[in-house]
Amino acid sequence: GTGLDALIKAKGKKYVGFATDQGEFGNTGITNILKAEGGCVSPENSMKWDATEPSRGSFNFNGADALVNFAQTNGKMIRGHTLLWHNQLPQWVKNIGDKATLTTVIQNHASTVAGRYKGKIYAWDVANEVVADGGGMRSSVFSQVFGDWTFLDVAFKAAKAADPNAKLCLNDYNINFTGAKLNTFVQVVKDLKSRGVPIDCVGTQTHTSVGGSDIPNYKNTLTTLAGTGCEVQITELDIAMSTTTSTSALQQQQRNDYKTIVSACMGTSACSGITLWGVDDANTWITGKHPLLWDENFAKKPAYQGFVDGI
Ligand code: XIL
Repeated sequence: GTGLDALIKAKGKKYVGFATDQGEFGNTGITNILKAEGGCVSPENSMKWDATEPSRGSFNFNGADALVNFAQTNGKMIRGHTLLWHNQLPQWVKNIGDKATLTTVIQNHASTVAGRYKGKIYAWDVANEVVADGGGMRSSVFSQVFGDWTFLDVAFKAAKAADPNAKLCLNDYNINFTGAKLNTFVQVVKDLKSRGVPIDCVGTQTHTSVGGSDIPNYKNTLTTLAGTGCEVQITELDIAMSTTTSTSALQQQQRNDYKTIVSACMGTSACSGITLWGVDDANTWITGKHPLLWDENFAKKPAYQGFVDGI
């Protein structure tokens, strides 16, 4: 093939992926691109805690199963997203006040969700966004009840037991910028390793902006992440415009920015793959800011060529 996934595989990387879910599978504009250009899918929402275990011990896998079936039918890899996160987390979890109960609940959630898809998931975002924006631990029911980072140990060990061959990742945003958040993130990963907790990969979401100050330095932040000794994955890439009007100047800058980020991955041996957080500008969580490679009519934007040039 000639799509993005084929191009990146020809250069030794593992995949180009896209976030999607069941609600998009009836949209042939999207599915044609997923099939032709992608080698991996991420569930945009269907594997999150609120979707999979809305009340304690009561699991719903309708959306997640649909995503997995789509991937398997079309020969795509899957990134699992995500077992433990402070957002899209049901209130019943937030209400837990004691460590013994929360430990059991995390173990049961991680082992049930990861266990259902055992052998089918390339990499799991076991935990998402656990670092605070200014560095240190993000405030959440997990950090408050445990008082330290060891809720991560519980989640990673449960995921490992449930799906021993999946790569287990810690994922976060704004670690594409240097500073306290990136420093804490790297330290947390190193500490997990030193405690013998099974972690294989780090995910840098990379929700960023056209012309962003992180972009010229992106290769350095990938190198810093690779310094953990983990596989590095770009897990949620999108590059938003500053205005809702997509000018040709912004389109050209966006093209350059995609090229810079993709070529940073290509130049970093630990960087294994890149997932875009959606296919087209009409179907994105960054409403109106044209962050993706295809426009609202599924025409390739200059950003698409920038991605190709980066490979
Ligand atoms: C977003 C989805 O794209 C939206 O549809 C949903 O309403 C909110 O979550 N970081 C993550 C993703 O790890 O799960 C988020 O996805 C975007 C930010």
